[in-house]
Amino acid sequence: MHRRSFLWAGAVTLALTLFAAPDRIAANGTIVTLPVPDTSGGRPLMACLKDRKSERHLAGDDISLPELSSLLWAGFGVNRADGRHVVPTARNEQKVRLLVVLGDGVWQYLPEKNSIEKVLDGDQRRRFDNASLILLYAAPAGELFSGMHVGSMYQNVALYCASEGLPNCVKYSHHDALDGQLKLPKGWKVLITQSIGSVHSH
Ligand SMILES: Cc1cc2nc3c(=O)[nH]c(=O)nc-3n(C[C@H](O)[C@H](O)[C@H](O)COP(=O)(O)O)c2cc1C
Repeated sequence: MHRRSFLWAGAVTLALTLFAAPDRIAANGTIVTLPVPDTSGGRPLMACLKDRKSERHLAGDDISLPELSSLLWAGFGVNRADGRHVVPTARNEQKVRLLVVLGDGVWQYLPEKNSIEKVLDGDQRRRFDNASLILLYAAPAGELFSGMHVGSMYQNVALYCASEGLPNCVKYSHHDALDGQLKLPKGWKVLITQSIGSVHSH
């Protein structure tokens, strides 16, 4: 099969796995490999900075799997062969996690494997603001660097959204909606969330 067709066939298969009918929903612990993120596209950085803003009309269908892959990569992807990330972390300890609330449950991003792992079943989006998807930024609560780390991450995602014309809003108001349900390490919490719509403005 031609390489491009092969990639698309893979993406479609993964999309079917991810957004399956209710009777075929992936069990907790299921790992889905994401398509390779598109790290060569996007609008010029200065144009994205100019367009970065909060928007609050965030509903819509599920975004495509290739787009989800690029969005997660912008937030906390690995960008070098030595395993370091698109955002800096103190002493490179990488004490942060990025999770995504989708229609069929909550998934943890596994940047080293370019994958997501299901950690909670059910459509939890109504516990937030019913956005198309919601990113959860988790880190050790009360540690000096935690807020700095998640701030770097949500700003990267906001710039990705500006590049793609996707509406987004960083929100503190529902950060505790899934407290105790996400199997985070002891002392870790979701510090902030970021709601994202799927309707492109350009
Ligand atoms: C740490 C943080 C927490 C925020 N929490 C909320 C929130 O709970 N609800 C909300 O609607 N917007 C929230 N916002 C978005 C701000 O209201 C928004 O950034 C501000 O009004 C400036 O608008 P702009 O982002 O378009 O420049 C938050 C932003 C940040 C950085």
